[in-house]
Amino acid sequence: MKKLMMLLGAFILVLAGCGLSDSSSAEGSGDTQKITIAFNQSESHPEYVALREFGDKFEEETEGRYQVDIQANEILASQKETLEMVQGGTLEMTLVSTSLLENFDSSYIVLSLPYVYDSLEHQKAVFESGAFDELYEKTNQEQGFTPVATYTAGARNIYTKEELATPEDLAGKKFRVMESQSKVDMMNAMEVGTPMAQGEVYTAIQQGIIDGGENNEVTYSDLKHYEVAPNYYYTKHLMVPDVVVVSNTFMDTMIAEDQEIFNRLLDESVSTEFDLWTQGVEDAKATAEAGGATFSEIDKTPFQEVCYALNEETIATDESMKAIYDQIRALA
Ligand code: GCU
Repeated sequence: MKKLMMLLGAFILVLAGCGLSDSSSAEGSGDTQKITIAFNQSESHPEYVALREFGDKFEEETEGRYQVDIQANEILASQKETLEMVQGGTLEMTLVSTSLLENFDSSYIVLSLPYVYDSLEHQKAVFESGAFDELYEKTNQEQGFTPVATYTAGARNIYTKEELATPEDLAGKKFRVMESQSKVDMMNAMEVGTPMAQGEVYTAIQQGIIDGGENNEVTYSDLKHYEVAPNYYYTKHLMVPDVVVVSNTFMDTMIAEDQEIFNRLLDESVSTEFDLWTQGVEDAKATAEAGGATFSEIDKTPFQEVCYALNEETIATDESMKAIYDQIRALA
């Protein structure tokens, strides 16, 4: 009997040990909780740098109660999959495009309607205005995760394998778009969109499955898409925000004092990220140009005409979208 009790005791100790190592830091202090953040681009991306700075400050201000680990380069999974993990509570945080949130609440469509922001400054004013607070709160109540910071991802432009002489040359070509119905609709109106995850784009262009993609200069360069599609055209059709998203399951484990630090530092990281963005675009262009890319202007009018009509149709379908749309435009 005594032997059985000892064995049982040892078994319980092993189990307890397993539990600890799951939630504590690699150092095994037992008091440090690890926060993993999934990120689908590289460590030199402005969003990574802003998030790292947030992480360092958070670790410091919570005096070692947390360790922030950012898993870059889409190592964990695509944005869509990491968002599902955050929703299910198996991952603490991720950064995703607001386009992916449209699959959970269609009101998110309005945050990235084509040509809805006039400039980076306009977008920053909108992000800081609280215009999205109500929507984020609704997500918090309904989805099991919460957007906690909104970052810029600049303006998206089209890039192609073959050179284009006029916008009409786009006809019949296929471009990768994000996995969002509103982006597929937009590209169908303009062209033919093929939804896929970010990580698949390079190979898809290389293999001729698509003729190109559309993205900001930073991602274009960071993921070396210029190697397979060297012609970059300033269509500026979208400025899709990215959001840092946290799991409610994880947030519920955090004491109020730490939650306050967490939210404050993430708020501050928004402005840091905007500051880093402009330089990031310059660096990205230089890298891509050195790798053979050319950046050209293109007549935006045909894109704008199609997109404005689509915007009108979209906001007419939903009162809450219309309200957010009006707030965005009021700050233009
Ligand atoms: C941008 C954005 C990412 C997104 C990507 C995409 O780079 O910052 O969050 O994943 O576009 O096109 O998928």
